[in-house]
Amino acid sequence: TLEVDAAAAGTQMSDDLYGVFYEDINYAADGGLYAELVRNRSFEFAATDNASFTGMTGWDVVQRRGSTGTAVVGSERGEWLNASNRASLTIQADGPGVGVRNAGFNDGLAIEKRKKYDFSVFARAERGQRLAVSLESPDGGTTYASTTVQVNGSDRWRKHTATLTANRTVTDARLVVTGGARGTLRLDMVSLFPRDTWVGPVNGRSALRADLAQKVAELEPSFLRFPGGCVTNVGTFDTYLESDGADRRRTYQWKETIGPVEERPTNWNFWGYNQTYGLGYLEYFEFAEDLGATPLPVLSVGANGCGSTIPEMTDDVRIDRWVQDTVDLIEFANGSVRTKWGKVRASLGHPEPFGLRYIGLGNEENTDTFQANFPRFRDAVEAAHPEVTVISNSGPDDAGARFDELWEFNREQGVAMVDEHYYNDPSWFLSNTERYDSYDREGPHVFLGEYASRGNAWSNALSEAAYMTGIERNADLVELASYAPMFANEDHVQWSPDMMWFDNDESWGSTSYWTQKMFMTNTGDEVVPSTHDGPEETPADLSGGVFLSTWNTRAAYDDVVVTDNASGDVLFSDSFDDASGWDPQSGSWAVADGEYVQSAGNVTDARSIITDAYAKDWDNYTLELDARKLG
Ligand code: AHR
Repeated sequence: TLEVDAAAAGTQMSDDLYGVFYEDINYAADGGLYAELVRNRSFEFAATDNASFTGMTGWDVVQRRGSTGTAVVGSERGEWLNASNRASLTIQADGPGVGVRNAGFNDGLAIEKRKKYDFSVFARAERGQRLAVSLESPDGGTTYASTTVQVNGSDRWRKHTATLTANRTVTDARLVVTGGARGTLRLDMVSLFPRDTWVGPVNGRSALRADLAQKVAELEPSFLRFPGGCVTNVGTFDTYLESDGADRRRTYQWKETIGPVEERPTNWNFWGYNQTYGLGYLEYFEFAEDLGATPLPVLSVGANGCGSTIPEMTDDVRIDRWVQDTVDLIEFANGSVRTKWGKVRASLGHPEPFGLRYIGLGNEENTDTFQANFPRFRDAVEAAHPEVTVISNSGPDDAGARFDELWEFNREQGVAMVDEHYYNDPSWFLSNTERYDSYDREGPHVFLGEYASRGNAWSNALSEAAYMTGIERNADLVELASYAPMFANEDHVQWSPDMMWFDNDESWGSTSYWTQKMFMTNTGDEVVPSTHDGPEETPADLSGGVFLSTWNTRAAYDDVVVTDNASGDVLFSDSFDDASGWDPQSGSWAVADGEYVQSAGNVTDARSIITDAYAKDWDNYTLELDARKLG
């Protein structure tokens, strides 16, 4: 029996309660939400995602029309497109027809019949020539679209544009660009965008892939947290220019991500690939505005987290620069066009302020350096922008004493809100719906910035829904909550479960997406008191499971078989060789009955297989699997 006292005064719910957490993980930006179809368009990609590094990630050389030649990436000073984009492609040919082709992010570019695609390239050549540009089948035998662009012989960088219209719908096209003369031809920023990108209600046509942005919009999020996650707080704290372009492990810095895309340096991404910053801070602010969501950027205060061991930020010169950058970001978002950074925003096409109300300082940064640096950042932000609420962090929930220590620190600092992160089994979520009932109401409030139960099965959706009722009952304390992470490109998974999945032409919500959507699009104003009379058992079929993690060590799983020891029946069997299989970058593995056991490495997450059939007493079952080490 459920009794609801509808007449009683209820708990007010925060208007901002449910938002989304966006991180460039699992190719969520390049190869995902950012609609660019060309991988490594500026030839800046470093060894991060290509062990035999030549700068040619995504590309290979073509020689046609009887000509021969070479195409190599170089970064000689006199060849730079600009100081932030130093690498480019040099083609040396003995005749027309030598060039390169790109296979995109998912072993091919997805194109649609009768749709238009905007091509652009920076080129320079010693000899005037017409470049041939085409979309083709993998074997080059079928042409889906073609055009040409005329390059003069001035040997100066110039941007050229053209439109391609596809005559067929395929998911494995190649973009091919070849020169039209002998001699030296240089290419940079070779780009292809679908004309049909997402159209936001405020800012109009965007650089966002339409189906992915639309799925986010349909959640009606109240806030957009970005750009991470671990991508915000790992890496050196140098800028590209400070490091003279050599540093491939720089921490994410917002000033490198605005302005013309060809002037945004490419960077290493913590999740093991390269990020172009084609999606940068302006795009994220505009996306938030179009979603009707309040933007919530999270910046590092220079302390390690996420297992990073790069030297932390302890020198005053560096700290002062980062503090100033943080204050400048708020001016960029909120300042009038008469302020320095408000003027920059206006020059980029957005004179109206974005109305930033929250800023996160520190993502899972739980070292002593966090406690030393946080007050300097917080004080500067509060002094310059009292309109902005500073959110501190608590490190990951599984950090034990460190988590408690950070909460104590945050209480002493009198911070308004603390960012909590946790990833646990579904059974944990079912048994912890009362987590926040006992939190001190006099202390900081909670931003549940990242949470998910391990798995993307129905039981995950159910356990998260149960947990969210606990969040709502404590809505006086929990002001903001977001499931994490948001996106995964199924060919490039570093972390699962995820809320939305996609390949190069399709996308789909996980079971958890639908739970989120149900809650997010049905938020109340008040939670009225209710009591429940009846059995309160944790359903047995949610209390166990099998988890194979997808972190770091690059192995693949084949032939996973679960057998009932008593009967010898095979309860589960999968070779994972279809599209829904394990990511080839899967890592260490763990098997558990309600508990998470790790064999090696930094295992913090798992994709789970939970079926009613064997999520029972684990001792009665046998798991066999082949783990195959890759690369
Ligand atoms: O959501 C994936 C990762 O989980 C985030 O980058 C990090 O903050 C957390 O550890």
